[in-house]
Amino acid sequence: MALWAGRFAKEVDETVNAFNSSIAFDARMYAQDIRGSIAHAAMLGDCGIIEKTESEAIIQGLQGILSDIENGTLAFDPHAEDIHMFVEAELTKRLGSTGKRLHTARSRNDQVALDIRLYLRDAVREIALLVHELAETICDMAEQHKETIMPGYTHLQRAQPITFAHHLLTYAQMLRRDLMRLHDAAERMNECPLGCGALAGTTYPIDRWQTARLLGFDKPTDNSLDGVSDRDFCVELCCALSLIMTHLSRFSEEIILWCSWEFKFIELDDAYATGSSIMPQKKNPDVTELIRGKTGRVNGDLMTLLSMLKGLPLAYNKDMQEDKEAIFDAVDNVKLCVKTFIPMLSTMRVIPENMRKAAAGGFINATDCADYLVKKGMPFRDAYKITGTLVAQCIAEGLTLETLPLESYRKLSELFDEDVYEAIRLENCVKGRNSYGAPAPEAVTAQMEEIRYELEQCRSCWD
Ligand code: ARG
Repeated sequence: MALWAGRFAKEVDETVNAFNSSIAFDARMYAQDIRGSIAHAAMLGDCGIIEKTESEAIIQGLQGILSDIENGTLAFDPHAEDIHMFVEAELTKRLGSTGKRLHTARSRNDQVALDIRLYLRDAVREIALLVHELAETICDMAEQHKETIMPGYTHLQRAQPITFAHHLLTYAQMLRRDLMRLHDAAERMNECPLGCGALAGTTYPIDRWQTARLLGFDKPTDNSLDGVSDRDFCVELCCALSLIMTHLSRFSEEIILWCSWEFKFIELDDAYATGSSIMPQKKNPDVTELIRGKTGRVNGDLMTLLSMLKGLPLAYNKDMQEDKEAIFDAVDNVKLCVKTFIPMLSTMRVIPENMRKAAAGGFINATDCADYLVKKGMPFRDAYKITGTLVAQCIAEGLTLETLPLESYRKLSELFDEDVYEAIRLENCVKGRNSYGAPAPEAVTAQMEEIRYELEQCRSCWD
């Protein structure tokens, strides 16, 4: 019989019971539920709302339930309505009427709002540490490739020369912002809803600051209606998770391209690639493809949360039970993806020769050729036009700017001299791009120092 059975003349239909039950997916919050109940029971005892001896018995009973779940001697009852009901029923089974005092001055509405915050607060920390590790892995890799020239692309067309280090650090920058977003989300969710009751607080002399403090929150939520009905912290976290996935997905897409025969900039380690059941030559980048695929799923979770909330009148509505599967799915998948991505990336073999070869084609030093003329006094637009004509001539004659004879240059402008070949040498083009944030090895070293420092700052806020 349900704990709330008093008002009802009939048992609830079996299919409705099963439909209503959330234990299949909220059981994972058992430790948070018990932790919240322990704080609540301690507060009830301290405030004289229940006897001290009863509060102590409840706390001991809850600790017993926790260790029995953890050592496998207590299994979740699949017929329980949710984890909150399960723990309370188990406590009552063990303590009799003392157990029935736990729910004084509390509702499942503030209980579930608390549990999910506690759960996500732990999850967000775990994810942040993983993302931090990934960003560090990227930096370590970039350290090796400050001089590795590759073509930088726009529209997937070779554009200007950069280095692999510079390209890699772009992802470290995205992840640095992701870490800041995770931190923001964690900060904003750190208010304790316990004591909001069903929606309108309580008539008991509870101490919400005590429970907030015991559970490591900054403060209690300021409005009891808001405390039980807001799930924007789930949305906000999911949004940060969607962006992490978006960044991993773009990186994955590039890795997929880079390991194709068309590019061959990298080779995945055999342990992080898979074969084909029919084509013996195949080595497929399944990990990166799955990450790209799972990004859609996490975006879906975000849409689930936003759509679930948008029409809800205040305060609690059962629709909100749908928050858990969505945010848990997002959390689980991000963890899984980052965990797999890190070793895949650090074992990947970079092939600088192929990057250099690709950089040698496609006239990616054309801007530098135009800049050469500009530095000799020609207006940029004129220099641009002359260089365009030179490129067209090279294409027609099967040449590159490096192999085009000086006479051909000089036919278009007297400003060209022997030193043009030095100016358009890819190594020099990269070295010359020394503006703040640019790919010159010197500028990349400065960027690296800065981002390592900032990543360390992001890391230390989780200690
Ligand atoms: N399982 C419910 C949820 O996840 C717990 C809160 C139920 N509250 C209620 N008034 N029915 O939202």
